[in-house]
Amino acid sequence: MTDHRSGNTQAAPAEHARETHTETERIILARRSVRRYKKSQVPGWMVKRILEAGRFAPSAGNCQPWKFLVLRDREMIDELSADVRAVSARLARLLDYRGTGSPGKRLLAHLMIRLKPRDLHPTPFGAVRLIADGKLGLYHGAPTVIIILKDVRGISSPELDCGIAGQNMVLAAHSLGLGTCWVGFTKLAFQYTKKWKRRLGVAYPYAFANSIGIGFPLGEPDGMVPRPQHPVDWYEDGVCRTLWAEGADRELPASERRRIPDFGDKSQVSPGIVSVDGKACTGCGLCVRACPASSLELVDKTACMVPVEHNECILCGACIAICPVGAVTAVEPPHFSGRFKEIDRGELAPPRLFTGD
Ligand SMILES: Cc1cc2nc3c(=O)[nH]c(=O)nc-3n(C[C@H](O)[C@H](O)[C@H](O)COP(=O)(O)O)c2cc1C
Repeated sequence: MTDHRSGNTQAAPAEHARETHTETERIILARRSVRRYKKSQVPGWMVKRILEAGRFAPSAGNCQPWKFLVLRDREMIDELSADVRAVSARLARLLDYRGTGSPGKRLLAHLMIRLKPRDLHPTPFGAVRLIADGKLGLYHGAPTVIIILKDVRGISSPELDCGIAGQNMVLAAHSLGLGTCWVGFTKLAFQYTKKWKRRLGVAYPYAFANSIGIGFPLGEPDGMVPRPQHPVDWYEDGVCRTLWAEGADRELPASERRRIPDFGDKSQVSPGIVSVDGKACTGCGLCVRACPASSLELVDKTACMVPVEHNECILCGACIAICPVGAVTAVEPPHFSGRFKEIDRGELAPPRLFTGD
């Protein structure tokens, strides 16, 4: 019988949890962003269950500063995607600072980087170019999209509260056997057009926070992948030990903080790298289709990375998780010089099960 007051959750006894990940941990650790879906719609009851997981997220002062919009009409989702693609094409034309480009364009881009450094980070900007070129879909064919609006009057950080509600929904969806992908680029339709604010009735106090595509995954894209370790400062018994210190961020000299990387200089910019075991690879092409950055291709029925000048790999691990024969391994995260945030460079490790203290 369920105790509705305690919501009794069959918490794993400590000794059992020491030996194996709990079900909740497995969902958290194996969840991957899914970018290929079956055409069939997600049943309404599942979406409502997912919304419930969002509704019960923690929020600062319990102010629940969100509103969820659910889009389930293919034509509407396609129209929104087309509008975001059109905005991406305009932005890429105007601001792509990564090629040789004209000096005027570089100047404008450098000014914009000062004003909006996060938007013009090489990773999202690389994705804007991929969206503009039709190489990266927006919702990847997901039949349901949840748009999360933040109430800008929220306490402390409504954006953070919306992120927590969103991740609750993502994990609930994966626990139901669905796939999801956060889609931040929906923002472009709200930032650079008035149409979607009007059409979806988004007005003060609400503003776009983020969105999530949901559907039944094609194949089995979820799976555990390695990631760099991040250093952790552990204070106990009056001393501080830094765990996994080898990935620590360097202190950045002022010159490096200001430098906008020169994409022609590989010491300043290099893409992520994965390696494919040619003997194990069956040439099924699942990794090529799963890669959001179009960084893999099939050559002579074996997957390999595209030439470095076209490679936008972000080391997300989608190719590693989906490979049915374990032929793909992570080698190195991308590098952009110090101005832009890059992934800490600690040793790559899969999710670990710590059994000792
Ligand atoms: C806030 C947010 C926005 C994102 N926006 C996009 C997006 O617009 N398109 C996309 O394909 N992936 C998007 N992603 C997915 C990330 O690329 C992905 O989480 C990351 O590469 C790590 O891979 P994983 O989710 O499989 O662990 C987004 C993720 C987050 C958290």
